[in-house]
Amino acid sequence: MKPSVNEVNNIRLQVFLSRSGVCSRRNAMDIIQSKRVSVNGQIVSEPSTPINPEKDSICVDKKLIKSKQYDYILLNKPDGYTTTSKDPFAEKTVFDLLPKESKGLNPVGRLDKETEGLLLFTNDGDLAYKLTHPKFNIDKVYKVTIIGQLKPETRSSLEKGIVLEGKKTATCKIFDIRISTNQTTLFIKIHEGRKRQVRLMFGKMKHFVRYLKREEQGPLKLGSLKLGKWRRLTPQELRSLRAL
Ligand code: URA
Repeated sequence: MKPSVNEVNNIRLQVFLSRSGVCSRRNAMDIIQSKRVSVNGQIVSEPSTPINPEKDSICVDKKLIKSKQYDYILLNKPDGYTTTSKDPFAEKTVFDLLPKESKGLNPVGRLDKETEGLLLFTNDGDLAYKLTHPKFNIDKVYKVTIIGQLKPETRSSLEKGIVLEGKKTATCKIFDIRISTNQTTLFIKIHEGRKRQVRLMFGKMKHFVRYLKREEQGPLKLGSLKLGKWRRLTPQELRSLRAL
């Protein structure tokens, strides 16, 4: 049977191989181009050949490659939970809040122990890479409460980029600002993912971050998911992620 082109579940052969854990994306290209891969019994040398993982049988060096089952869980992380599965000294970890079957999943990026909000877990390494590698410029939106009143010139400096640890931050957007007597609540949209970036950015401008919550990551939104609860991604969310 020839690989089918027009079906919704189709992915590129190169992506299938890297997602199955056979090799990295780059290696997949080499393996395919050196004619070691067959689709339904026919050698294929074009990495972008569309295949359907549920229907087509893919072999590398005549060995059948099973398609991996992917899982995608979204957590609304509360304050006080560490984003780790390994730290034996962490009092509470995000995995304490997730179902047993989440054991083989990895968090996509990290949130500080005190940060709340959207944290995705998956075993889809390809997608995790797309969501976290700076070259893909994936937006993240945070709700932030800082001590003190945010001045227009501070906002403007942050939006244009400031030097943090010797490197200028990329441009960002600050919006929905609410200023009260001794604090300011705002939303910030950034597309970098440097460690403790939001806290460091405001810290540099002499504003201590009192509260931080990730509301959005790329096309994903927390919506009405309650603090400490998790849910699986919807088919619509998965489609948007795959279209990135
Ligand atoms: N920026 C931070 O400072 N902390 C987080 O947890 C996420 C973004």
